[in-house]
Amino acid sequence: MTVSRTDNQVLAEEVTLFDRSMAVPVHGEVVRCHYVWLRDNCWCSECRVAQTQERRLFTADIPPDIAPTSVAMDGDETLHIRWNDGHTSAYSAAWLQAHDYSDRARQGRRHEPTLWDATFTSIPTFEHDDVVTRDEAQIAYLEAIRQYGVAIVRNTPPVPGEVERFAQVIGHVRETAFERIHNVRHDPTGYSVAHTASELRPHTDMPSYRWPPSIQLLNFLVNEATGGESTVTDGWAVLADLRAEDSAAFDTLCRVAVPFQVFSEEEDTFTTAPLVELDTDGRVRTFRFSNHLVQPLDVGFDEVEPFYTAYRKLGRMIASDRYKVAFKTSNGDLLTVHGHRVLHGRLAFDATSGARHLQDVYMEYDDLMARRRVLLGSHRPKSALEGVR
Ligand code: OGA
Ligand code: ZN
Ligand code: ZN
Repeated sequence: MTVSRTDNQVLAEEVTLFDRSMAVPVHGEVVRCHYVWLRDNCWCSECRVAQTQERRLFTADIPPDIAPTSVAMDGDETLHIRWNDGHTSAYSAAWLQAHDYSDRARQGRRHEPTLWDATFTSIPTFEHDDVVTRDEAQIAYLEAIRQYGVAIVRNTPPVPGEVERFAQVIGHVRETAFERIHNVRHDPTGYSVAHTASELRPHTDMPSYRWPPSIQLLNFLVNEATGGESTVTDGWAVLADLRAEDSAAFDTLCRVAVPFQVFSEEEDTFTTAPLVELDTDGRVRTFRFSNHLVQPLDVGFDEVEPFYTAYRKLGRMIASDRYKVAFKTSNGDLLTVHGHRVLHGRLAFDATSGARHLQDVYMEYDDLMARRRVLLGSHRPKSALEGVR
């Protein structure tokens, strides 16, 4: 092993020490790690709570000049470090590889959702009893939501409250104002356009929360009225095209805060937020769009026209036939949508032609993805000491 603080050459066979980081040969590749990062992720029983694997080490106590005094690579499998704070640590090669934070490794681990448009006629469809009773089917259903942001579960027992029972199998109900289980049917006293027989253009629900519900389950107990076909639209696909065609319009939608409100006689929800919010990698994380719930813009004078210009472009894309998938659901169909990605809607229906009643509950995408990881057995953090010699 060569230890050299000045050598800028990174060799796949040797650990190379730099001023603030090291390059470690791991299974024929080189993994670069900062000293502070390695010290922070020591997995010894002093640094972790043995019972729970949580961090005991208080990160802010790591000295800024933390560095190794000696480093040894044991048989290509274990990295041993003695630190200048007197501590010793060990890391398995497998752990170092799994946590490689090079651009290439991070790119390789990144989940890429499959964006879709109006040609996506085969929405992933599952049988209720399968999803509820068979882990593989439930994993496939959760995977579909992760990939496409939409899935249909058929033959849900057409019983009021069934949607909540289903929600509790895959996660937790996110309660909001109004009802815990929302009833959507023709109701001349209802507080929402959903309670009329009119068309509902593609929208996301509850944009009037700072964090809108990120999953929505719509369970069609009975759908026997004429019309009322459902629509789904991949909002992230629309935004990807808008961004490519008119990045200024896209930026405007990320910047201008829009007020949204949903209210009834007794309840109120209100927030202001831009239609598009990005994650720290600049990718769309949250999209909210509900034309009927927007309140008067309250922004700087110079933002008004750019906003309407961008909104016109976006709205026309959403209203076009290029992205929308329409289909008629049957009694017992349960439609799941990723509420920060996929817009849902319905065509107008004839309220005198037959019964139409659906129940929705909201959930959180994070809980569904956690459920998927638990079912896959991949949720527990890997110990850096697993397999060390
Ligand atoms: C809703 C909704 C669609 C429908 O309840 O949020 O959009 O098919 N309903 O009635
Ligand atoms: Zn330790
Ligand atoms: Zn809705």
